[in-house]
Amino acid sequence: MPQSDAPPPLPAALANLAQACAACRRCPLAAGRQQVVVSRGNPAADLMVIGEGPGAQEDEQGRPFVGRAGQLLDQMLASVGIDSNRDAYICNVVKCRPPDNRKPTPAEMAACRPWLETQLELIQPAVVLLAGATALEGALGERGAITKLRGQWRSWQGRWAMPIFHPSYLLRNPSRAEGSPKWLTWQDLKAMKQRLDEG
Ligand code: URA
Ligand code: SF4
Repeated sequence: MPQSDAPPPLPAALANLAQACAACRRCPLAAGRQQVVVSRGNPAADLMVIGEGPGAQEDEQGRPFVGRAGQLLDQMLASVGIDSNRDAYICNVVKCRPPDNRKPTPAEMAACRPWLETQLELIQPAVVLLAGATALEGALGERGAITKLRGQWRSWQGRWAMPIFHPSYLLRNPSRAEGSPKWLTWQDLKAMKQRLDEG
């Protein structure tokens, strides 16, 4: 067995992360969860998608974005040639479901932050999509109207990050007309794909 101080290989590091998250009780959201929801998708992907927090379906299945919002996210990514499980790594700002799907508090987001930081370090994505205003706040500490901020590139720890509308918002605003939230999101995703393809 070679001896070294090198960090564990990615699969071992990911297994450690999953284990540590499963045991985490750093914030009050631990009390209401069925499961900690860490990630789905491909840890070797160049794209990371960060949402707000698990909903009911996610809490039940232990995987992020598997309910209706997740299905729409998958469809929209597919429309620009991205398979959500093959070409992306998907996670949330908080890993446990907030009661009644309320927004996570700043304290909860801060408590969960080390797990998100670890995910960034392990995955090393080139491009990050921040789904919704809460993801933008949780990741970059930036508060504001997503209608104004979506589609604008940010630099985040040496990588590209773009806020987009949350798919739940798009479920409530289904029009695809030019200028609609869905249409704008499609433009954003096309820009994201172009950035990914540029390497
Ligand atoms: N909404 C989110 O922000 N994340 C999920 O995982 C599911 C719905
Ligand atoms: Fe831990 Fe995050 Fe769950 Fe809070 S939300 S208990 S910090 S994993």
